[in-house]
Amino acid sequence: MPIPLELKAGDHWWCSCGLSGHQPMCDGSHKGTGKAPMKFTLAEDKKVWLCDCKRTGNPPYCDGTHSKPVEQAS
Ligand code: FES
Repeated sequence: MPIPLELKAGDHWWCSCGLSGHQPMCDGSHKGTGKAPMKFTLAEDKKVWLCDCKRTGNPPYCDGTHSKPVEQAS
């Protein structure tokens, strides 16, 4: 499910690795994984729905992909 947040205008760092203990934002836990957070900037204070499943096609925002089955690798 997406995580709704009221965010202030400015820069934010979305966790792309899934390891953060402060989802959906980066807390530095990605260090050593080769992954990096995604910076996004809001021009104004805004309510946003951020992806928590890390499968969105429109990061950092939820695009509904969480409701679709995970494709199995063959
Ligand atoms: S903790 Fe996941 S990208 Fe930083």
